[in-house]
Amino acid sequence: MPAPRKIIIDTDPGQDDAVAILLALASPEDMTVLGITAVAGNVPLELTQKNVRIICELAGRWDMQVFAGCDAPLARALVTAEHVHGKTGLDGPVLPEPVMALQEQHAVDFLIETLRREPEGAVTLCALGPLTNIATAFDSAPDIIGRVKEIVLMGGAYFEVGNITPAAEFNIYVDPEAAEIVFGSGVPLVVLPLDVTHRALTTSERVEAFRAMRTEVGNMVAEWTDFFERYDKMKYGADGAPLHDPCVIAWLIRPELFSGRHINVEIETKGTYTTGMTVADWWGVSERKPNALFIRDVDAEGFFTLLTERIARL
Ligand code: RIB
Ligand code: CA
Repeated sequence: MPAPRKIIIDTDPGQDDAVAILLALASPEDMTVLGITAVAGNVPLELTQKNVRIICELAGRWDMQVFAGCDAPLARALVTAEHVHGKTGLDGPVLPEPVMALQEQHAVDFLIETLRREPEGAVTLCALGPLTNIATAFDSAPDIIGRVKEIVLMGGAYFEVGNITPAAEFNIYVDPEAAEIVFGSGVPLVVLPLDVTHRALTTSERVEAFRAMRTEVGNMVAEWTDFFERYDKMKYGADGAPLHDPCVIAWLIRPELFSGRHINVEIETKGTYTTGMTVADWWGVSERKPNALFIRDVDAEGFFTLLTERIARL
């Protein structure tokens, strides 16, 4: 049995981020979470850092180190998504105020310090929100770039096109300059775009499976997905909402559930209508060097079986 992978989760909870964090914390045989860094995204930083602590307490992980990071994108005003996630970012259930401490250290300094301390190639970064923290760490300490094992991120879209604009997916759109730094860094990337997350839909029986656990965590996940899916069901007219961020953690546990291609992906930062677009050379028509494993498909049944089995552990 290989040793659990060391990961840092960078996140902007968000109900789907919450499910992803719970899946990671429920899978100690697959991964060791060295820390969780919050970034501004779905809601402002003071809420995302609070939400991370609420989620850790729900999982009984009062020991987890939680850090607050960047409160705004590198070069633009913050765009948030309360219309999807609600005012708190975790709307749905009534939630207690967190009690566990927020670390004093800035998330960017934690990323730099950890990557310098851990053996080269030992740490995987799991990015579930805008890439501002990671890009800032790479900018301030270029020596850590070669030390990252890989970055597995939820972001971008190609065949599925955008969700926050006709061309761009939210995480990339919020901070395209940060995404440009990460996608140009040379760090091995695994990208889980809307193309694959839109195939991992929370149908009503899948949400029921969480409720049927009769656990506090199962009920919370059911209430979060009930709330979170209302927007996408209305928008796409589908029988459920895409569970975006848990695809990142599920890929770490069972990559065979997913399929994609190693291709070139560039970030548009100057387009009038296309800023934040991930320009994915799926058909290999450019001479540009492949820089990302771009995931396009998932065994949705297998994904939800894994998710349900693991969440039931908490
Ligand atoms: O576009 C989906 C992404 O934006 C997800 O990470 C969701 O949590 C939001 O951050
Ligand atoms: Ca997110």
